[in-house]
Amino acid sequence: MKRLRLGVLASGRGSNLGAILERSLNGSIDVEVVVVISDVEDAAALDRARAADVPALFIPPGDYRTRLTREAEAAYLEALEHHSVDVVALAGFMRILHDSFLERYAGRIVNIHPSLLPSFPGLHAQRQAFEYGVRWSGCTVHFVDAGVDRGPIILQKAVPVLPHDTADTLAARILEQEHEAYPEALQLIAEGRVRIDGRRVITLPPAPQGPGEAT
Ligand code: GRF
Repeated sequence: MKRLRLGVLASGRGSNLGAILERSLNGSIDVEVVVVISDVEDAAALDRARAADVPALFIPPGDYRTRLTREAEAAYLEALEHHSVDVVALAGFMRILHDSFLERYAGRIVNIHPSLLPSFPGLHAQRQAFEYGVRWSGCTVHFVDAGVDRGPIILQKAVPVLPHDTADTLAARILEQEHEAYPEALQLIAEGRVRIDGRRVITLPPAPQGPGEAT
């Protein structure tokens, strides 16, 4: 099977990138991380990419606080195209993307969020959920559209809130599930099993194996 060429955008520690890289390098997902781009020059995510021999680029975001400037966006798109990226994965990327970026990769940008969306979008989702007092939270992998944490949902994993949890212990257990959910969702996309149908995502069954194919 042709491997999915993945471009990852990350601003921070890059643990989700690390989980994707690990599965990619050990061959358990049909995904190749072909470039990692950060808006933060010393992001640990870039170190993780370099350690895995994946091109790691710092591209300055420009002067805006929460978005990329038009010039920066053009540079991001050029780098993604240079590496022939099929799908863009946001992994702790702290910038909102413009419509022109979203249109260029329509239906091919995914994100992970540490709550069961549509509950608790935005920053500090784990703490929001903890303070609200929910009994379950979790994580969501979804397509990216013009809204914040709002696009069609590919998969979710639920995590119980335990009696002795703090916001931090809950966040740590959600993160463990993120590291399962993101590679799993990317594998579904790599297998061509994900269709967007309005707000809903249809997950198709695995293709039947042909005669002589390894099990
Ligand atoms: C994760 O909690 C992810 O859900 C959110 O940002 C955090 C990134 O963590 N979007 P890491 O950089 O992947 O460790």
